[in-house]
Amino acid sequence: MKISVIGCGYLGSVHAASLASVGHDVIGIDVDAAKIEALSQGRSPIFEPDLPELLSEGIASGRLRFSTNMADARDAELHFIAVGTPQSAGAGSADLSYVDGAFDDLVPYLTEGDVVVGKSTVPVGTAVTHVAAVEARGAHLVWNPEFLREGFAVKDTIQPDRLVYGVADGDEYAVQKLNEVYATAIESSSPVIVTDYATAELVKVSANAFLATKISFINAMAEIAEVTGADVTKLADAIGHDNRIGRKFLNAGVGFGGGCLPKDIRAFTARAEELGRGESVAFLKEVDAINLRRRERVVELVTEELGGSVFQKKVAVLGLAFKPNSDDVRDSPALDVAVRLNGLGAKVVATDPEAIANSRALHPQLVYGTTDEALAGADAVVVVTEWPEYKQLDPAAVHEVVRTPIVIDARNCLDADAWADAGWEYAGLGRQVKNGRA
Ligand code: UDX
Repeated sequence: MKISVIGCGYLGSVHAASLASVGHDVIGIDVDAAKIEALSQGRSPIFEPDLPELLSEGIASGRLRFSTNMADARDAELHFIAVGTPQSAGAGSADLSYVDGAFDDLVPYLTEGDVVVGKSTVPVGTAVTHVAAVEARGAHLVWNPEFLREGFAVKDTIQPDRLVYGVADGDEYAVQKLNEVYATAIESSSPVIVTDYATAELVKVSANAFLATKISFINAMAEIAEVTGADVTKLADAIGHDNRIGRKFLNAGVGFGGGCLPKDIRAFTARAEELGRGESVAFLKEVDAINLRRRERVVELVTEELGGSVFQKKVAVLGLAFKPNSDDVRDSPALDVAVRLNGLGAKVVATDPEAIANSRALHPQLVYGTTDEALAGADAVVVVTEWPEYKQLDPAAVHEVVRTPIVIDARNCLDADAWADAGWEYAGLGRQVKNGRA
């Protein structure tokens, strides 16, 4: 099928490359000329496993092209809208200007029988505002939310857990077209749920709200564990064995960040308030507040461990990305912790396998270095993103290079006993300090 993908960011670039990899003829369109130039040469604008290979293969096969010109969408019969919906300045609501702009620019090129597929995460009630303009061209509108996780984006796109189509009045034609697009996923067992626009839009935001709530739930338990002598990691294992609860997304730590969960729960709250149902999701404000408190707690823990002040103390901050296997620092708890410690006068040296360039663009005042540079002579080591290379650090070897063997495990990802046995003072979140120092 001939497909256009409007918006080539985290979502659109992966979507375009994945669709080309299963045999479609795809054109990716974006207003950012530098991004289109890079993508056209097979260079990925983001760090995402498997994406560079898919881009190169797609371009080499001739099935994947990129352009800044919306008129190039004209030949396609299916058009995915994959532009961003960032948080509005101040308000917390979603900024829909890119979505609205994409529809405005695309609609003049639509022809009879085309299908426009909204993928962007939008507040419930958005699709219905665009359907008349699309149908006036004889085209169809579907809302088909995307559930990909960064770091697994290609896998999640090619083999999604589920496909959700929000359509107008049981639009069979549109369902048929989307089933063709996703034939590979459907054949290998991704279930399809066909519903209305409002439900499809809500599936996405409620899934993210649920995940955020699960993380903040365990982080709230961590707060209680900290004052009672309990261990939140054992607690998570124990409650997670109940398969109605499940162990996934119960990792207590510095909390969630990234381009989705934080902004999506705020936008959902704002939309519910607009609808006069603010009380229905008022708990999401608590979810947000618990999440942000964890960042403060990490700074507090570092301060406590350093005897009451971080001033002039060298702190190695290991990790800047909001999670491993990503270079994304949007709303990253790790970067936030580094900035806060630096602001308190600590001599922070921050490191990350992939996210230094993006961090530097936002916070040029921070000192960045390699892992070795960060650790050399450190008064405290803080692990804030659970990259495999940090989990695999040898505590005995690191002990040799730091000034004081204090480690704050803000992701509960290290082996506490191994670090304490190697002579470290180990402090996790929601657990008791283990003092292995002689
Ligand atoms: C999320 C959703 O998972 C995805 O379905 C949606 O499409 C977009 O938002 P993503 O932002 O890529 O995906 O990351 P995810 O893996 O969900 O992690 C989000 C944040 O939660 C990260 O900062 C991660 O470190 C944190 N997290 C996750 C925890 O703190 N504890 C956990 O147990 C799990």
